[in-house]
Amino acid sequence: MTTVTIDVRRADPEDAAEIAAIHHEAWQGAYCGIIPHRALASMINRRGPDWWASAIKRAASVLVIEVGGRIAGYATIGRSRSRDLKQQGEIYELYVKPEYQGTGLGTRLFAAARDRLSGHGLKGLVVWALEDNDTATTFYHGMGGRDIAEGVEIFDQKALRKVAFVWN
Ligand SMILES: CC(C)(COP(=O)(O)OP(=O)(O)OC[C@H]1O[C@@H](n2cnc3c(N)ncnc32)[C@H](O)[C@@H]1OP(=O)(O)O)[C@@H](O)C(=O)NCCC(=O)NCCS
Repeated sequence: MTTVTIDVRRADPEDAAEIAAIHHEAWQGAYCGIIPHRALASMINRRGPDWWASAIKRAASVLVIEVGGRIAGYATIGRSRSRDLKQQGEIYELYVKPEYQGTGLGTRLFAAARDRLSGHGLKGLVVWALEDNDTATTFYHGMGGRDIAEGVEIFDQKALRKVAFVWN
């Protein structure tokens, strides 16, 4: 029998290329047909390996989930950017490689991200998701999040609604 280990850890600068590839693939899969093509392509292109390497060096807020030593997803976390909400921690992004989606890795990564934020003394958690991203909204509802606030994000003149899910 082969045992595959699943582990969540902080990202190293050497992980930058793998994370950039996951970011590219997961954003294409999640937002193609939702975010206008040009805006999506420029958001993806901006975040190549160099961008990720410097993001990882700047702050310890990038987590990766590994399956058998290969990175299968990542999360970026930190202090909430929403001054109107009382929750102090935020998961800015949480993405799992398409071939691993639906296998429980998102749940593991979410739990680890939440633990790290509360371990840093941040009380409560918020995650923003685009309303049209059904996979994400189903996932965060399933994790027990309450949708309590709405906002709008503009992509190439297209306004998309976003929803804030919170945990206390
Ligand atoms: C959303 C995401 C992070 C969830 O991670 P995951 O590993 O696929 O999720 P899990 O396997 O842990 O599943 C947990 C729950 O999520 C929901 N879910 C997962 N995959 C789903 C899918 N393809 N469609 C609808 N719901 C789904 C289910 O409610 C599932 O619960 P269940 O297993 O009891 O049915 C992942 O699918 C992903 O990266 N999606 C694309 C990118 C994205 O939208 N990220 C969030 C941006 S804010």
